[in-house]
Amino acid sequence: MSTRDITVTVNGAAHRHAVEPRLLLSDFLRGTLGLTGTHVGCEHGVCGACTVLLDGDSMRACLMFAVQADGCRVETVESLGRIDQLNPLQQSFHEHHALQCGFCTPGMLMTATDLLKKYPLATDDEIREGLSGNLCRCTGYAHIVAAIRAVKDQP
Ligand code: FES
Ligand code: FES
Repeated sequence: MSTRDITVTVNGAAHRHAVEPRLLLSDFLRGTLGLTGTHVGCEHGVCGACTVLLDGDSMRACLMFAVQADGCRVETVESLGRIDQLNPLQQSFHEHHALQCGFCTPGMLMTATDLLKKYPLATDDEIREGLSGNLCRCTGYAHIVAAIRAVKDQP
């Protein structure tokens, strides 16, 4: 199988790899780079678990090939904070009980990061609409919305 050299800046570090053209970005992040914080659920663009930021915009990593990210900047959930140093959004998820099994959480956090950066989120309905592409089978969403609201309303 022929490969193609790509260079992708992931969480601030440049990575150059030879990849097969059919390798998904999600598999590149998880398998090649070992960044398993990006979860893979449906692999069909439905669940949002694989959401990352591509050049600052939220994107489903399972719907892109790694070669399409050549020359791009990718941020994964690992860019947000560490277990001993959560960023404000992660801390808010923790405080508002916004996760149970945690499978959807990386995608929720990356989508919310994008939403908080770009939109006024004046109402909870706006937050819910922004999260409509991310599925959670545990929480009922209310605590996730509350966690994002709390960050938005921080002085
Ligand atoms: S794994 Fe990508 S949207 Fe579900
Ligand atoms: S916390 Fe389990 S799927 Fe969302």
